[in-house]
Amino acid sequence: MIFRQLFDSTSSTYTYLIASRTGGEALIIDPVIERVDRYIQLLSDLNLQLIKAVDTHVHADHITGLGALRDRTRCITVMGEQSGADVVSMRVSDGDRIEIEGVSLSVLYTPGHTDDSYSFVMGDRVFTGDTLLIRGTGRTDFQHGDARAQYDSIFNKLLKLPDETLIYPAHDYKGDTVSTIAEERTHNPRLQVRSIDEYVELMSNLNLPNPKLMDVAVPANLHIGMPQDEIDAHGWSISCAEANVIAGRDDMVLIDLRDRSERQRHGVIPGSVHAPYQDLAENVGPGGLLHELAAATRRRLVFYCAYGERSAMAVKAAQEAGIANACHLKGGIDAWNKAGGRLEPAAK
Ligand SMILES: [Fe+2]
Repeated sequence: MIFRQLFDSTSSTYTYLIASRTGGEALIIDPVIERVDRYIQLLSDLNLQLIKAVDTHVHADHITGLGALRDRTRCITVMGEQSGADVVSMRVSDGDRIEIEGVSLSVLYTPGHTDDSYSFVMGDRVFTGDTLLIRGTGRTDFQHGDARAQYDSIFNKLLKLPDETLIYPAHDYKGDTVSTIAEERTHNPRLQVRSIDEYVELMSNLNLPNPKLMDVAVPANLHIGMPQDEIDAHGWSISCAEANVIAGRDDMVLIDLRDRSERQRHGVIPGSVHAPYQDLAENVGPGGLLHELAAATRRRLVFYCAYGERSAMAVKAAQEAGIANACHLKGGIDAWNKAGGRLEPAAK
């Protein structure tokens, strides 16, 4: 198991790099844009392929590294479904799992610091974002924060985890790196309250100044979608209306890039083939499933995903691999749904 806790001293942010083995797939939580070169170097040193970059919430004190990592590694960007960020490749909600090779995070919705705050449990540890900090809790006075919701997230979700669960937060300003559920329950001053009302009272009297970068970071973090002008200009995008007309025709084939869990939850476009995004390089390369499919049948590959980011990156990869007629469904299943496109349940 590879587990690295990386620190950005400017914003006091912890970023976590996780992989099950050297040479395998990796996932990163809460990357900071200024540190992206360092992450890329570390990924290269450990021979890791970054598959997913996850933010626990929209940050107010630093600009996320999600967009830069996606642009440089073609990884999947992940946030909670409540996030106001314009485009992330994949959205999760309470009870979902975020998976890569040999690693599985279970998703806990823990609003309060913001309305899009999530925690992720991985075996003996939990990544708490800014919901529960070491000897503190995330402020609740902006970004749709809500002290009542935070009390519920902490007392009824996080503190219900086993006592020995390790807590890895998104920030620490004192130099602490890790704690446990039992330790915070006993020693975290914010948690020594007798009622939800007492907690709300405590949180409403903190009178904290706004983070220095807030006016820059929040708008930047809401606009991390991948520019797709180049894809459109090449004629590699098709609209839902066009897709609807050609769906089912035998000169094209729809390729679903989403994870199994997304297919189960949201359904699939009838007649499409499942080829998960993380296997893309292998699938579009010479001898790969999609390479052979395109070559043998001369059918046009039409990629789709949840919002059109993975599919746009897939088109580029396919074009680079010599599949000249590949294109993608602009806006993904989200746009397909809004256009009233037909879906069917995914096969189990
Ligand atoms: Fe935060």
